[in-house]
Amino acid sequence: MFEKLESLAPDAIIGIMALFREDQDPRKVDLSVGVFQDEQGHTPVMACVKQAEREIIDAQTTKTYVGIAGNADFNRGMEALLLGADHPALRDARVATIQSPGGSGGLCVAGHLIHRAAPDTRVCLSNPSWPNHLPLLRLAGLKLELYPYYDPAKHVIDFGAMTACLENLGHGDVVLIHGCCHNPCGADLSPDQWRQLAELCERRGVTPFIDLAYQGLSEDLDADAYGARLMAELLPEVVIVASCSKNFGLYRERVGSVSVISSNAERSRAVATNLANVARGIYSMPPDHGAAIAGRVLHSPELRAQWVEELAGVRNRINGLRGLLVAKLAERGAPRDFSFIANERGMFSFLGISKEQVVRLREEFHVYMLESSRINLAGINNANVDYVADSIVAVL
Ligand code: LMR
Repeated sequence: MFEKLESLAPDAIIGIMALFREDQDPRKVDLSVGVFQDEQGHTPVMACVKQAEREIIDAQTTKTYVGIAGNADFNRGMEALLLGADHPALRDARVATIQSPGGSGGLCVAGHLIHRAAPDTRVCLSNPSWPNHLPLLRLAGLKLELYPYYDPAKHVIDFGAMTACLENLGHGDVVLIHGCCHNPCGADLSPDQWRQLAELCERRGVTPFIDLAYQGLSEDLDADAYGARLMAELLPEVVIVASCSKNFGLYRERVGSVSVISSNAERSRAVATNLANVARGIYSMPPDHGAAIAGRVLHSPELRAQWVEELAGVRNRINGLRGLLVAKLAERGAPRDFSFIANERGMFSFLGISKEQVVRLREEFHVYMLESSRINLAGINNANVDYVADSIVAVL
């Protein structure tokens, strides 16, 4: 029965990570997959995570099932983290949240829920978007379209083209928006643009679907949730998918959530049952360990304070590396202006070089990035930044 299946090309991101791991050259630099790295090129476990983990292991007396919606403390903690504890949607019991296996699991559940509620809906994604958005949401059966977002020549959001395109959407359509730290381009909407977008969604009856995978990696936990909170205040229905991979460094534990804001508490109860039913049909129940850790950190004043501090360290490091790379490229007289990288946010930016130059960087210089020229700034450190800048200038 499987004889018709053909071999597929490796994943656009995980495939490059695998190539990097195979490379034996001591000069190799990994700017591909979106994981944080410290000055030693290591992806550490946060101290608050280690502490919570120890406490959980000591206190745990059973491994019995938790339930389809996962850890209730985690879910309540995530709602408050995403929306702010006194958000009107929470006060009115209009938010239904379930724990999901990572942000990707959350996107999958949300996609299936949207398809179940409105099978003909169109979901509009930014061009470009995270490479995995398309296959994930397509598997849920959704019709996908793209809206213009990043202007690669000017290195800015083409907000005029974006809104002109979204004006064509109508009631029941969905627009997927990156909550902050746009993956892959690093260009984020301003508060004023969020407000205009919320007004457009309200007028056209469009439902925002916000992917908030990097809360805390741009400005701070509250500022990074500005758009999601605003949308949830002004619109009757909003879907928010969050990930704890990056802001808690819980990557392999697969921790995420799906929150759906509904127009009233009764609808919200119906949505909650459907979220659980969709999840049960896909993976039954989410893994416990990572969400138990994040839930504990969110609810313990000491661990939470420690987390906020550690997360600030992650954010400041990445933002600092942006300026460092730009300065190193300028010092070498790079024949292009890369200063836009310093203004972008989150882990990623496009270098804006060709596929051939990307391949040359990989094969000749052992510097790995996505074929689109997306780099993960967190892969840079003081020991490799000169080599990275030399290599980029060499292929320009
Ligand atoms: C990335 O974009 O590199 C990360 O979100 C990791 C992944 O799963 O793609």
